[in-house]
Amino acid sequence: VKPTTSVKLVLLGEAAVGKSSLVLRFVSDDFQENKEPTIGAAFLTQKCTLANRVVKFEIWDTAGQERFASLAPMYYRNAQSAVVVYDVTKPASFIRARHWVNELKSQGSPNIIIALVGNKLDLTGEQEGQEPGPVVSRDEAAAATGDLPGRKVSYQEGEKLAQEEGLLFFEASAKTGFNVRKIFLAIANKIPLE
Ligand code: GTP
Ligand code: MG
Repeated sequence: VKPTTSVKLVLLGEAAVGKSSLVLRFVSDDFQENKEPTIGAAFLTQKCTLANRVVKFEIWDTAGQERFASLAPMYYRNAQSAVVVYDVTKPASFIRARHWVNELKSQGSPNIIIALVGNKLDLTGEQEGQEPGPVVSRDEAAAATGDLPGRKVSYQEGEKLAQEEGLLFFEASAKTGFNVRKIFLAIANKIPLE
């Protein structure tokens, strides 16, 4: 039997960047095209099995809408890890991500492990190995006609912020599942043994 380490993780980021969708993909391997905004916060758990142990994530998925911003400290206080999410098609969400990183660094746990995640990579049409599935949404319809919303935050911008602040960094898609497990595995691998 492998030893289990419980780890508190908080998700932060602007409204509608896909925090709940990343969690839904990680926990249930599912995606919802029209997911409702989170009210307050949601709590979920999921395990990651590593070579010699199990890391059990206790996930606080916070609400990104501005009216809930003052609640965030309740959720990131005592969190050993955080996933700060932005949308690669929305520059304002990257500015917001920078703000959350600064707040975590100044008010969060001293040794907090932070992953910066640029979500919705599927909307750029760049993702490798992507299948051009059936047209079911406005974004996919746009993609099919070559009219993608397009990338507005470069990989290099995300990588630079992550390097400056010592963060893990991934671009991902909750919709296709691309890189989603990798985010949580990378955090799990940085959690010290108790
Ligand atoms: P709040 O709870 O309000 O903070 O939003 P959130 O960050 O939890 O976003 P949520 O997961 O609710 O997703 C917002 C919308 O974006 C939903 O309609 C999702 O279906 C969509 N979405 C989430 N992730 C992706 C993605 O990777 N690709 C695409 N194309 N759409 C996504
Ligand atoms: Mg949400």
